[in-house]
Order: sequence, then structure tokens, then C-alpha cells
Amino acid sequence: NVIFEDSRQGSQLVAQEIADLIRQRAASGQKCVLGLATGSSPIKVYEELVRMHREEGLSFKNVATFNLDEYHPMERNNIQSYHYFMHQHLFDHVDIDPLNVNVPDGMVPLEEVKEYCRSYEGKIEEAGGLDFQLLGIGRTGHIGFNEPGSHLNSATRDITLDHITRVDAAPAFKGLDNVPRKAITMGIGTIRKAKRIVLLAWGQNKSEVVKETIEGEISSEVPATYLQEHGNTTFVLDKEAAAQL
Ligand code: GLP
Repeated sequence: NVIFEDSRQGSQLVAQEIADLIRQRAASGQKCVLGLATGSSPIKVYEELVRMHREEGLSFKNVATFNLDEYHPMERNNIQSYHYFMHQHLFDHVDIDPLNVNVPDGMVPLEEVKEYCRSYEGKIEEAGGLDFQLLGIGRTGHIGFNEPGSHLNSATRDITLDHITRVDAAPAFKGLDNVPRKAITMGIGTIRKAKRIVLLAWGQNKSEVVKETIEGEISSEVPATYLQEHGNTTFVLDKEAAAQL
């Protein structure tokens, strides 16, 4: 684990790693496949990547992205959607090819969700798998939207959101009743196949789940504990999130 004075410093280091990977892959004529996360935790990483694009000429032309999750049902253009979030914080400000951007579709009809999830999974594999997966963590110990009870080998699927997750999302939706009950998320199995994983956690209200994730027994009760068995995962924390370690 790496512990930083504050989230700005931690985010800069992570953005630098991503930029190095993108450039290294471009130099050998290869695509760089990034798994991306939403929420407040990765915002400064995206800010830094946008800055590098503007000031250092970092190009996203060889980058393909797969987002972890999306609420369901959720329209793309809704300002609460993860689709909107990603465009607002990253995609609209860099030179990525829109055809290389993948965010789960929150409007897939229920009867097509299974097939849709299978094809999302297939697209990741076709792209050569995730070179790098960025993660935040929810207070329930979820990564993506893999809530407690998620299986180690779970794939992209629709899930029912935990009550705590919905409570945490309520302010953004102006009330609990407006928070969708379901979501589509990459699975734990999908995430674990990434060659490199970086989990970000900032602030005191993550300190408890960070402790459980890093020091607790591996269990589906705290799905993030599955990362303990991934050989190339780093937890990037600020002092507050690391306070209970
Ligand atoms: C949501 C997202 C997760 C994210 C979590 C924490 O539940 N689906 O991917 O990690 O929120 O969000 P934040 O970074 O805002 O604390």
C-alpha cells in the first residue's frame, strides 16, 4: 500500500502510472485497455490526465476504456449517470476515439440484460483484457457495484444495490427514493483478470472498510477483500483512509 499526505499527491502518482502505460503501449503500436471507475475518488486522477493531455501532449488515440458499472435503469444523458460523469470528467477533454469508449448501457431492456452483459465481457476479452483497472471502494466493501455476497468469479451482470450504497448515493439523487435499485457491474472475476489494479480511498469515512479490505479475512461479505489474492494490486490511500491500519 502507498499512503500519501493527501488525495492530490496520490492521484498524481496514479495518473503518472496510467500515462506511462499509455505512452509505453503507443510506442510499441499497441492499444492500452483501461478499466475506469466513477465516484468522487478518481476525479483528481482524471483531472491530472486531462492536464497531461493539454500540457504534455498525452494522447488517448491508442486507448480503449471499459467502465465498471452503471445504474439501471438510467438514461445516458441523465446527469446522475456514470456515462455523463465520464464524459464530463475525462472523455470530453481528451482525444479518445468515441468508438473505444465503453460504459455499460443503463437502458438495456431487462430481458436483454444477460446477453448484453455477456457481450460486454466479450468485448473486454476481444480488446485483449484490461491492462489497468482503477477502483474506488464503497462503504459496504463493494468494488464496481459488486455488493456483499458477490462471487469470486462473478462476471458482468445486473445486481441489486445494497441499502447503504443507496443511502450514500441519496444526496446526489436528491433523496433515497430517486436512487435506482439496480445496476449493471463488471464482476469480481472481470476485475481480477486485470493485469494491474489500483484502488483509491480517501478520507476518514473509508478508514473502516479500508482496514477490513486489507487486514480482514477474505470473504464475499467484503468483496474488496478478494483483491488480497491479486498479485498486482496497490491500495493508494491518504492518511485519513489509512488511519486504522
Ligand atoms: C459507487 C461506485 C463505485 C465507487 C463507490 C465509492 O458505488 N459504483 O465504483 O467506488 O461509489 O464512491 P466514492 O468514490 O464517491 O466514495
